[in-house]
Amino acid sequence: MWATVENGFYDLYLEYFHKAEANRRWNLQADIPWAGVSRTPDPAVVRVVQSFMAVELFLPDYTSKILHLVRASRGRAWFQANWGYEESKHSLALETWLTSSGAKTTEEVRGFADDILTREWNLPYDNPLEMMLYTVLQEFATSLNYRGLRRLARESNDPALDKLLVLLSRDETGHFEFFKNGVLLFMKQNRDLVLEKMNGVIRTFRMPAWEIIPGWAEQDRFIRELGIFDDRIYMRDVVRPVLKALGIRPDELREARRRLDAV
Ligand SMILES: [Fe+2]
Ligand SMILES: [Fe+2]
Repeated sequence: MWATVENGFYDLYLEYFHKAEANRRWNLQADIPWAGVSRTPDPAVVRVVQSFMAVELFLPDYTSKILHLVRASRGRAWFQANWGYEESKHSLALETWLTSSGAKTTEEVRGFADDILTREWNLPYDNPLEMMLYTVLQEFATSLNYRGLRRLARESNDPALDKLLVLLSRDETGHFEFFKNGVLLFMKQNRDLVLEKMNGVIRTFRMPAWEIIPGWAEQDRFIRELGIFDDRIYMRDVVRPVLKALGIRPDELREARRRLDAV
């Protein structure tokens, strides 16, 4: 069974890699119109950009811990290396915007990054299937967050920020697609198991690192107030479309929950 899943993952990785190389790779300096960056950034936008940059800064933990969990799977491990490269550009792009808009000085963002990196993110789940289910939701939610921030930033008339948010949310959607296809592979092998685990992951889902970012409670409240992300948005605009993309019906999920409760 696992040989079939692993071969499937390797095929998915090759498809992902070739597509990314042909259509999705972007260049931080050349593909963002930095000359047009607004020098009077909206303080609310700055605050959200800095929060999202903080989430992206836990890259060393995301890459090392997940890679360790999946190291025996060539498809997943090679994917993770690519993923790390793409995610590394996200914090760089956000940081570049913060400094080139004049919102923060280089010293301020570097100090902020140093402070963040004194903390450590740990895996929310300890097995590869639950981690993958978690990541499907998380990548979809992250793409949605960048689209929400783009909506908020529209009035700023900043073509650099607009373009970078388009590029970031497109990358996150690419990540979601890979993990979604991976979950479909698992579902072909053992649909009931995936449904059971999915119940638990949906219930316990939190965006990565939110609880360890300094001052996060306040940032979280701010992001909720702006209508970028909250529990209702999570259920309506993340859980529902992700389940649909996986071909999971709500009644199937309820049935799996009943099975679990009966144990
Ligand atoms: Fe990212
Ligand atoms: Fe991502």
